[in-house]
Amino acid sequence: MIRLETRFASSFVDSKKLEPFLSKAESARKTLHSSTGKGSEYLGWLMLPNEIQNFEIDRIVQAAERLRVLSEVIVIIGIGGSYLGSRAVLEATLPFFRSPSKGDPEIIFAGHHLESRYLSELMEYLKDRDFSVNVISKSGTTTEPAVVFRLLWELLHKKYGTGAAERVVATTDSSKGALKTFADAEGLETFTIPDTVGGRYSVLTPVGLLPLAAAGIPIRKLIFGFQNILTSLHSDSNPISNPATHYAALRNYFLSSGKIVEILANFNPSLHYLSEWWKQLFGESEGKENKGIFPASMDFTTDLHSLGQYVQEGKRILFETVLSPSLVNSNITLTPTSDNLDSLNFLSGNTIGHVNEQARLGTLLAHADGGVPCLELIFPDISLESLGAVMYFFEYSCAISGYSLGVNPFDQPGVEAYKKNMFALLNKSGFETEGAILRKRIHGG
Ligand code: PA5
Repeated sequence: MIRLETRFASSFVDSKKLEPFLSKAESARKTLHSSTGKGSEYLGWLMLPNEIQNFEIDRIVQAAERLRVLSEVIVIIGIGGSYLGSRAVLEATLPFFRSPSKGDPEIIFAGHHLESRYLSELMEYLKDRDFSVNVISKSGTTTEPAVVFRLLWELLHKKYGTGAAERVVATTDSSKGALKTFADAEGLETFTIPDTVGGRYSVLTPVGLLPLAAAGIPIRKLIFGFQNILTSLHSDSNPISNPATHYAALRNYFLSSGKIVEILANFNPSLHYLSEWWKQLFGESEGKENKGIFPASMDFTTDLHSLGQYVQEGKRILFETVLSPSLVNSNITLTPTSDNLDSLNFLSGNTIGHVNEQARLGTLLAHADGGVPCLELIFPDISLESLGAVMYFFEYSCAISGYSLGVNPFDQPGVEAYKKNMFALLNKSGFETEGAILRKRIHGG
């Protein structure tokens, strides 16, 4: 179902030198399965595809259906792991151009930044439309989604009075956090994120599934994709035939040879948010203790006309992993014109899909020739089943790669630093002294 192709990377790999990385990855895989590694209290995602219960899926679908019936627009409020998984699947599978209607509502994401213009335009947009909200925060205390939820709750109240509560579903911790307290006090329907599943590994919990169901996505197909690949990844102890251990080993091998940036590239812009999800997964899991590969992403051919120059000839610190679905839409064929004024008759008879594929192959050859090892992650298509498999593949590889690197792939202590400063600068109680120190640093005196 998923294959890691190394034909455009093999000239950069000394198989003798790769061996210790393969052994390390396989022993990291064993550590993962024996729950003896760092952060092993957060391994709830590992068996989740097989443990998710039918009644839980039914409840998610029912809640989503309620929001769908009530709404022209459903706003998904969340940041990081609390929105990227659902957004990745949604953008990959929904039509690019769609006209929303009641019963098939428009999905809007908010709470993933603090831009005032976005929020005022959003509230203006929602004023005359029936809308509902799925607010998602595992901690229940993250500032960005909390601020946006406060604004939209006020708007819901203004529009619907006591009917506001039925238009909100809160996805949060089972017992702690301000969102849980709020939801209980206001009688909101809630879904729980298991304690053992961290934000960036939570797409298969209500965090990811409820927004997808609200968008009308048949979530069982995505779950099937996760299930489908789990057994083969778990049962293969050969670190080369198992694509997850192979990928983890190659990443760390490239890192050791100075390739400190991995570009996750695609030739299908619908996969843009899959890369955003992947960047969080690998960035938060591995970037700590002054270690880790910097996860970057590019959409090709678009970025070949900007960053492509750097990839081809800039500092040789890059390797690439190209998301490569085998089957893509090929229903547009170019036809010849009698005058050939645009000089494109040489493409006649070719589908756009074929042209894009030649662009992909040409790019891989060029980048490899330019000193950039290129891996291809080959999967059948951009269906829900395939996306589920790809997401589980990355979660599993990420844990193995992080353990191989010697870090805890399940915590994110670095995310707190900016929050502390922001609270101090905003005079949150308890941060007053720090606030004074920071203001002095910024403004002098
Ligand atoms: O991976 C993580 O745990 C984080 O990136 C979170 O997803 C992100 O910070 C959002 O946190 P929360 O869901 O608690 O609002």
